[in-house]
Amino acid sequence: MELPERVLAAPVLLRHFEAADAPDVRRLADDWEVARWTAALPHPYAEGMAEAWIAGHADARVRSGEHAYAITRTGDGTLVGALGIRPEANVHGHFGYWIGRAHWGEGCATAATRAAIAILFARTDLDAVWAVHLVDNVASARVMEKCGLRVLREEERTHRGQPRAFHVRGIARAAWDALRGCG
Ligand SMILES: CC(C)(COP(=O)(O)OP(=O)(O)OC[C@H]1O[C@@H](n2cnc3c(N)ncnc32)[C@H](O)[C@@H]1OP(=O)(O)O)[C@@H](O)C(=O)NCCC(=O)NCCS
Repeated sequence: MELPERVLAAPVLLRHFEAADAPDVRRLADDWEVARWTAALPHPYAEGMAEAWIAGHADARVRSGEHAYAITRTGDGTLVGALGIRPEANVHGHFGYWIGRAHWGEGCATAATRAAIAILFARTDLDAVWAVHLVDNVASARVMEKCGLRVLREEERTHRGQPRAFHVRGIARAAWDALRGCG
């Protein structure tokens, strides 16, 4: 399934990554304070990884349906982070995100998450959208809470080699419609 190539969700614009984004991706992602909360970000984030990751996006869209978006600021186009949207959820749910530390607290993850949920409900017939976060990831918990994702259950999972507690959160289509975009 093809999802939109660009999505305006002020204060962010979501767009496909371009090869030229690689140095910014590496600069933002090569940070343990970002990586340690994620399942998939390599650490350290070595030279060449961003280029390879971006080069694989077109194939991933076809193969797994995952769409990786650059989260950019509408004001100046600055790349601040990444969002993955998965119409077919994997073990981490329908979406995941990270924001470079210099841009935390600007509302970017919340805007990107609202856009992700809106896209998923608009482009699929899913009854509900779900995602996961480490229980002690208070920033991510707050982002999901602000977007109407309620805690469904707690699960222990292996995270970066250690057993850790996760919250699985979700929102039903009807609840999303009632929120009309999470006010
Ligand atoms: C989680 C993350 C994506 C949030 O990005 P962000 O753009 O800063 O998020 P937003 O600005 O949209 O919202 C963050 C909210 O968390 C709150 N928050 C942040 N740190 C907090 C803390 N230590 N305690 C309580 N609330 C906190 C902020 O105040 C804000 O809530 P508010 O709008 O009610 O004030 C970012 O911190 C990050 O990339 N972390 C590392 C990677 C990660 O955790 N990815 C998600 C894995 S599930």
